Amino acid sequence: MTAAKVLNMNSRTVKVTIDDKEVELPAFKGTEGEWAIDIATLRAKTGYITMDHGFMNTGSCTSSITFLDGEQGILRYRGYPIEQLAEKSNFLEVAWLLLNGELPTQSDLQNFDRQIRSRTNLPPPIFNMISTFPKNAHPMAILGSVTMAMSGFYGNFPEQNFSKEQMTDLFATLMGTIRQIAAVTYRHTASKNFVQPNRDLDYCSDFLNMMFGGNGYKVDPEVAKALDLLLILHADHEQNCSTSTARLVGSSQASPFAAVSAAVAALWGPLHGGANQAVLEMLEEIKNDGGDYKKFIAMAKDKNSTFKLMGFGHRVYKNFDPRAKIIKKACDNVLAKLGVNDPLLGIAKGLEEAALNDSYFVERKLYPNVDFYSGIIYRALGIPTNMFTVMFALGRLPGWLAQWKEMIESSNTKIGRPRQIYTGETSRDYKKRS
Ligand code: CMC
Repeated sequence: MTAAKVLNMNSRTVKVTIDDKEVELPAFKGTEGEWAIDIATLRAKTGYITMDHGFMNTGSCTSSITFLDGEQGILRYRGYPIEQLAEKSNFLEVAWLLLNGELPTQSDLQNFDRQIRSRTNLPPPIFNMISTFPKNAHPMAILGSVTMAMSGFYGNFPEQNFSKEQMTDLFATLMGTIRQIAAVTYRHTASKNFVQPNRDLDYCSDFLNMMFGGNGYKVDPEVAKALDLLLILHADHEQNCSTSTARLVGSSQASPFAAVSAAVAALWGPLHGGANQAVLEMLEEIKNDGGDYKKFIAMAKDKNSTFKLMGFGHRVYKNFDPRAKIIKKACDNVLAKLGVNDPLLGIAKGLEEAALNDSYFVERKLYPNVDFYSGIIYRALGIPTNMFTVMFALGRLPGWLAQWKEMIESSNTKIGRPRQIYTGETSRDYKKRS
């Protein structure tokens, strides 16, 4: 394949030869210098489709929200390095940035905050709905179901052609209510009374108060700050499994609540957001087994075993996950500030060191990802293990919404509909089986 014609700095055509037939396909470049070949016409020109199991090398969209360089361990939201946002920003500001493209002015931020605070109250039937789930239901099952049910209660949002005000209202509604859904879900599964939202509290403090309030509970500012940091680190990650799901569902012009609910479902899996729960369970298992993490490393390398080192590896990061670096440091700080001495932290560090010195992990470029240390912080903050993936969803919500908004507003958007190569029976006549 060679560059056929340079059209301008950012686009060209490339020649592809298939069965001695040469065809030209358009190619274009993004702002960070990455090139893509547009293969939409390949089948019409040659009869071939492309095949890419798991989308290892397939772009599904252009996007100006998040940039990620897996080789260099770079992550930027709207151009701002994640390290700077983690140090200087806060979750609501980052959410606004993702949704609107620029950092908010102080008055933008105040208005956004005020709107979110005013949207906290869930419709009473939603409380009833949560109450009908078995106490041992997984909180992600409840979150996904309730988010979908919200479409039935917030029907004043159009399914397309949103005005700017309707869009802001939608974001505030979802961001305001998701905290309450999460907290009410926890209180229900823990057989505790619900705690009313308190509009005088900031985003994270109000969530913590709804989770743990009552009996003289006072939100520890260090806990709220640590939670805010985790939400920033989770806020977007370009075309990951749940975000791609939100885009795909949204591409059929389904309700944004449906797109978010589908994203929650995708996030739940242990290869994606569910890894944070799986990491903690793995560390517990290692501890209960006497702390011999080398045995677990051997199991992860054994091709006859289905066991994987949870919180290790990433489809895109092949050097290090910059979020994991920030979280590891925060983990030490948060545990020290809260006076928590968690033996799982020592096990996690030992496991990391052993894996990073093992040729299996080195050759495959497997490094700790965002989920490896986040669970230990969530645990120190008092969040129960089965709520960890819900916490991830709280953080990822602005990313899902920003990506959904970008998709519905783009003139290139078409319904997402992949092709396949059929490998089943060829045509045969119907005959009843005895
Ligand atoms: N433990 C042991 N071996 C692993 C692991 C692991 N955690 N991850 C990948 N490998 C091996 C895999 O078996 C394969 O080996 P081989 O080449 O011999 O067949 C090689 O490394 C490449 O892995 P892959 O499964 O082809 O890579 P992928 O890009 O398809 O999958 C992943 C990426 C994140 C799903 C995978 O690394 C994994 O399952 N990790 C554990 C789950 C996890 O921590 N997920 C959170 C991801 S980050 C947060 C998020 O996305 O939400």
